[in-house]
Amino acid sequence: MFDRFKTAIAEQLSEISGGDAKVIFEGLQPPKEETHGDFSFAIPRLRIKGNPKQMAIDFAEKFKTNELITKAASSGPFINFSIDKNVLRDDVLKAVYEQKEKYGTNTTGKGQHAIVEFSSPNIAKPFHAGHLRSTIIGHFICQLYKANGWDVTSMNYLGDWGKQYGLLAVGFKKYGSEEKLEQDPIKHLYEVYVSINAEAENDPNIQDQARAYFKRMEEGDEEVLGLWQRFRDMSIAKYKDIYARLGIHFDVYSGESQVTNGMNRAMKLLEDAGMVKEDDGAQLIDLEKYKLGKALVKKKDGTTLYLTRDIGAAIERYETYKFDKIIYVVSSQQDHHLKQLFKTIDLLKLPYADKFQHINYGLILGMSTRKGTVVFLEDILDNTRDHMHEVMKQNEDKYAQLEEPEYVADVVSKSAIYVQDFAARRIKDYKFNWDRVLSFEGDTGPYLQYAHARLCSMERRANVKINPNADLSVLTEPAVYSIITMVAQWPDVVKSTMETLEPSTVVTYTTRLSREIARAWETLWVVNQPENIAEARLLVYYSARITLGNALRILGLDPLERM
Ligand code: ARG
Repeated sequence: MFDRFKTAIAEQLSEISGGDAKVIFEGLQPPKEETHGDFSFAIPRLRIKGNPKQMAIDFAEKFKTNELITKAASSGPFINFSIDKNVLRDDVLKAVYEQKEKYGTNTTGKGQHAIVEFSSPNIAKPFHAGHLRSTIIGHFICQLYKANGWDVTSMNYLGDWGKQYGLLAVGFKKYGSEEKLEQDPIKHLYEVYVSINAEAENDPNIQDQARAYFKRMEEGDEEVLGLWQRFRDMSIAKYKDIYARLGIHFDVYSGESQVTNGMNRAMKLLEDAGMVKEDDGAQLIDLEKYKLGKALVKKKDGTTLYLTRDIGAAIERYETYKFDKIIYVVSSQQDHHLKQLFKTIDLLKLPYADKFQHINYGLILGMSTRKGTVVFLEDILDNTRDHMHEVMKQNEDKYAQLEEPEYVADVVSKSAIYVQDFAARRIKDYKFNWDRVLSFEGDTGPYLQYAHARLCSMERRANVKINPNADLSVLTEPAVYSIITMVAQWPDVVKSTMETLEPSTVVTYTTRLSREIARAWETLWVVNQPENIAEARLLVYYSARITLGNALRILGLDPLERM
């Protein structure tokens, strides 16, 4: 939104100073103090010999104001510029009206393909808070990449292979029930796993059986693979339902089990590169030189490991998708593993080694239901929804107006969970706080949804319609400009968040926008106003509503029309 203003400054200042227009364009920043205008430029960036303060004075004096730039003034070694707010207002309102859901998106990633691997729970194990974070952060990254014009493949890399699945199969023979498996595969497999695990602790015999079973799996024994395939298929079907509730879709359900050929090829590549060392029958790669220790890639009995499968998967993924970028959204508890993986890919001199990125995050502490520990995603969602539903019922009048209170409770509670999670930088641990999750005030998900729903309600109740040709010259209040300035920043937020992939950047922006909207409610009325004023103001609120909705969608949330 600001590009044409920045270009106008850059072109003229370049002519006056002889400096590079591009350097000026890139160097234009919002000034520290609001009273200093809209953009500030630091003269030393030009790398021109002379006294920066004197140059700032000279250049500002020579700068001719025009229909876009209304003021240029020096301040120490800086020049501060003010832009014509009415031009900005007209540009913004027009752009939002024309682009609607697309407002804020850009095409910088056109023709490029990214794979985002996220969520990746383990079959028969709890879906813990770490998986929840991977799920929502990963989905956010997909939305963000799409908004920046990329093609995105979302991938779930299930933990569905390894000795523990041998153990699970052994357990299923003893404790399994077909009926329960049909009913809720995820929970039942978990129960079976817990029982057999407890038994295996005291009985080495069971461990041996599990090892032998897994060996048969790795050898491709059809009988054992049949059972395992059923576990996997049924778990995926159930997962799909739960993800659907979050509005999340995976293009690919991959998993450790799906890495086949790639692994042998990985082993061969490692051997050819002279990286593999024998150690008492097992094989390992030595990454001591890079302070990454030694990593086992093949066990004594010939079975493979988590790392080996990841190396194989990386090779297969590139061959299948020819991605320009691949992002692994995995807890910082696995930093070491991913460093080993990426280092190995690097050492193998694979030409695509620079396309890998690990996006990590800290822990959620103390996430349990009020009854006890949560182990399944579904429980987390149900629990929060039910609590939220109770809170909503307390406001009887409003509650009576909702057509689908369950749906609203579900979306509001998701918003609460997400925004709490996204509030700080990813790497930070945080304590799950029920009071905060359920609060409708402060920087919370419900607050953002409420701002959106309130804007929708205003549009429903206004006695005028959204009119793109409304006479905007009646808009003179400072509240208008506060909203317009926020709305105008959204396209830049979408772009700049690509550098950090921090959801908190978008949450901070969305909260600020919501606050400006709330502040405007007090002075900028639409009801009971002359028609021309109502129309113009409604268009401003409309631009805020569209932008807020777009921001919520990038965060992975459905904007609510009523709540
Ligand atoms: N399934 C793993 C876990 O729950 C996460 C997988 C992460 N991705 C990967 N490519 N290693 O710990």
